[in-house]
Amino acid sequence: MKQIIRADLQNAIHQQGLIACLDAYARDPMGGGEPLAEDAKLRLINGLLRQPANVNFLAQHGTDIVGAAVCFMGYSTFRARPRLNIHDLCVLPTHRGQGLGRLLLQSVADYAREQDCCAVSLEVRTDNRTAQTLYRSQGFGHLDSPMEFWVKPLC
Ligand SMILES: CC(C)(COP(=O)(O)OP(=O)(O)OC[C@H]1O[C@@H](n2cnc3c(N)ncnc32)[C@H](O)[C@@H]1OP(=O)(O)O)[C@@H](O)C(=O)NCCC(=O)NCCS
Repeated sequence: MKQIIRADLQNAIHQQGLIACLDAYARDPMGGGEPLAEDAKLRLINGLLRQPANVNFLAQHGTDIVGAAVCFMGYSTFRARPRLNIHDLCVLPTHRGQGLGRLLLQSVADYAREQDCCAVSLEVRTDNRTAQTLYRSQGFGHLDSPMEFWVKPLC
């Protein structure tokens, strides 16, 4: 049976499942093609637990965790409503093409509506046609904006 659940980061099975999904994403060409660093894996769960805005969804196939959506709640000052960002979305390669990515996105959107969010946002590579097709089918679209994504690296 396939289902989407909220992750409980105190649950060791959920912890390992989430790390495995993020590692698979990192290894994917769309995630950079390199495994997650071991020290990042070690810090990840405690780091997320310290982020009050973090919420995570897991795709289960039977008892196996085979997909994940890592999200952070933000806030739109102009709309004066929360806005949920999907930071990572991944389904294990062995379980792709079975509708789990779509189910994850639907659960994220349901949660965002419950929280009175004005929108769900995400970033997607310009060459990630698979994800773009999925996102379009779920109502996402390219933001027509002159804004660029900038960063100041600190480590
Ligand atoms: C993107 C990803 C999450 C999709 O997960 P998935 O479970 O395979 O997707 P689904 O089975 O729910 O597919 C839903 C829809 O997406 C599109 N899609 C899925 N796989 C596709 C493919 N290989 N080519 C084109 N469209 C595809 C289709 O529109 C599909 O609907 P359909 O089956 O009715 O045709 C998965 O491919 C993945 O984890 N990729 C690596 C990580 C990644 O790129 N994440 C997104 C970062 S922005």
